[in-house]
This record gives sequence, structure tokens and C-alpha cells, in this order.
Amino acid sequence: MTTHRIPDLWEAEPGYLNTASYGLPPRPAWVALQAALEDWRAGRTAWEDWAAAGERARHSFARLVGAQTADVAVGSQVSALVGVVAAALPDGARVVVPEIEFASNLFPYLVHADRGVEVVTVPTGRLLDAIDERTTAVAYSAVQSATGEVTDMAAVAAAAAAYGAVTVVDATQAVGWLPVAAVHADVLVCAAYKWLMSPRGSAFLVIDPELAERVRPLAAGWYAGEDVHASYYGPPLRLAKDARRFDVSPGWFDWVGTAATLAVVESIGVPAAHAHDVALANRFRAGLGLPPGDSAIVSVDWPAAAQRLAAAGIRAATRAGSLRASFHLYTTESDVDAAVAALTG
Ligand SMILES: Cc1ncc(COP(=O)(O)O)c(C=O)c1O
Repeated sequence: MTTHRIPDLWEAEPGYLNTASYGLPPRPAWVALQAALEDWRAGRTAWEDWAAAGERARHSFARLVGAQTADVAVGSQVSALVGVVAAALPDGARVVVPEIEFASNLFPYLVHADRGVEVVTVPTGRLLDAIDERTTAVAYSAVQSATGEVTDMAAVAAAAAAYGAVTVVDATQAVGWLPVAAVHADVLVCAAYKWLMSPRGSAFLVIDPELAERVRPLAAGWYAGEDVHASYYGPPLRLAKDARRFDVSPGWFDWVGTAATLAVVESIGVPAAHAHDVALANRFRAGLGLPPGDSAIVSVDWPAAAQRLAAAGIRAATRAGSLRASFHLYTTESDVDAAVAALTG
């Protein structure tokens, strides 16, 4: 186990196995958020201080996924960011998507059916086989929300590139525990409120700069301006030249929490998180008699799982009819053992 490398920064009550639904804030993020709320209540500071947190978070996220900061936009929800990209698909585009894909990286394509955009859904394990000369885009999650399946981003990128297709990767269930390299995606989107343990309402878009030339910044407002503070009023259109033209104005308090959490994630390091989380997931799997896996999310059909865990005060989820348990930095061996005991006892 690698538990000793993880600092004691969380106040999780025992039995929280549901980071795939929402992550819990480390103390520095909680403290920063309370301070910002106090400042708000008293009118003690200028909003620019809160917005600056979004810039710190943008830099952190770029480092976490190995991207250029200039290629990172900040937004609020995955679906809204994907929607801007989906609108750039040509009429008649064919998009290949895993059949169990979370809707935020699926519905944005389906809404273009009237202009001939076709969505082909396939089992996650058959994604590579489904990519061919007819494919315009491959949209998938680096880690599946319902099942925890990990997709080989490099392999999908190579298959898509062989046919000139673009990849749109939802990394929401991955960044924070799984090493993710943005270079394997033409577009990478990530909501920060799960494995990046941030308040709900902060998300990132990383976009290849050449592809970005073909994407209309449909959500552009003042915050997408080249000089934000000279973009409040009136024409002409004067958008940022880099990915900031896809920014939406920051939900201040979300970003205060997000910046502080990402600093913690960077200091711990994703490899340590990966080792810790997967070890606990595999301890859980072993307790249920399952072979080891490669994911921080465990999905298993287990009789009366929801009732048994609820009776023991353990918080997990049911997705696609199966128990979904997820393990992150604040999860302990005793959390895992209590869950195993509740299920097998
Ligand atoms: C893979 C994945 N992407 C995105 C989201 C959230 O999407 P949005 O930010 O559009 O609400 C979830 C939430 O469960 C998810 O599991």
C-alpha cells in the first residue's frame, strides 16, 4: 500500500466510496472557499482576485495533462464545452461513441441529427474496430462513468488519425487518479468536481490549436476577449487568439476551490494517487473474490448491494444496474474492509 504518501487533508466521514459521483475537498480548498465567501459577504475584495483563481487552475490543469496553457479553456460543464465542438462537425458527420457513454459527450452530437450528423454507438471494447474511413469523430470517455473501464487513449488516437478522424475525450472520470496525456486527444474535456475534488461548476477544455481554427467560439462573451478588461462593451469582436476564446466567465467561488484543490493534486502527484486508488480498488475486488483490475472505479453485480451498504452507512452508487464503488485519496483500507464486510457478511 502507498497510503503513507497521501497527506491527511480530508475530513471524509468513514464509508465514502462515491468519488465517481463527487469528490471531497482537501482542507486548503475548503479554507480558501470559506475565506472567499466571507470576503463576498463583507464586500471586502475585488472580484478580480476570485477570477485569478481560474487562471491558476488553468495552469495547473495544463501541467496535469501535459498541455500548453494556451490550449486550455475554462468552462463550467462538460456538455456545454462539447456542444461548442459538436456544432463544428460538418453536415453528415459520423461520430463513433461507446454505447454506455455518459450523455454529456453524446447528446451534443445527437442534437445535430437534423443536419445529418449520425451517431454510431458500439460496446466500449469494440471502439477501435468501429473506426473506419467513414468516421469523422470518435467521442469517448478515458474512463467510463458507469463501469470504470479504462480506454487506451493512445490506441484510439492512432486509429482515428489513420482515417483523419478527430477524437473528443471526456476525461472527467480520469484526471486526478489516472495519468492522462492530452496529446492523445484532439479535444479533451474534464469536469473538476469528481476526481479533481472541486466544487461543482468548473470544467476544462483542451483543444488542438489547428482544430480550434475550425471551431466557432459559440459561447464567447467578454471573458473570451483578447484583453478581458477591454472587452466589456461594444464591437468589434476582439477574441483571444488562443484557446481562451472558448472561455466562459468564471463562476468565482467554484474556481477558488478548484485552484486550491489542483495545487494539492499537483503536490501529491497523479502517480501516487493512481497507486493509492487502484490498490484500494483491488483490495475491494479481492474481498469480493474478483481478480485485480486497472481502475479506481469498481462496477459489480452484487445481490442487494445498495441495501447492504446503506445499512452499514457506506455511500456508493448504483449505475447501469450495478454497484459502483470508487476509491480516492481520502479512502482508507478500513473503508474498503467495512464495505466488503457489509457485502459479504
Ligand atoms: C464521464 C462524465 N462526464 C461528465 C460528467 C458531468 O457532465 P456535465 O459537466 O456535463 O454535467 C459526468 C458526471 O457523472 C461523467 O461521469
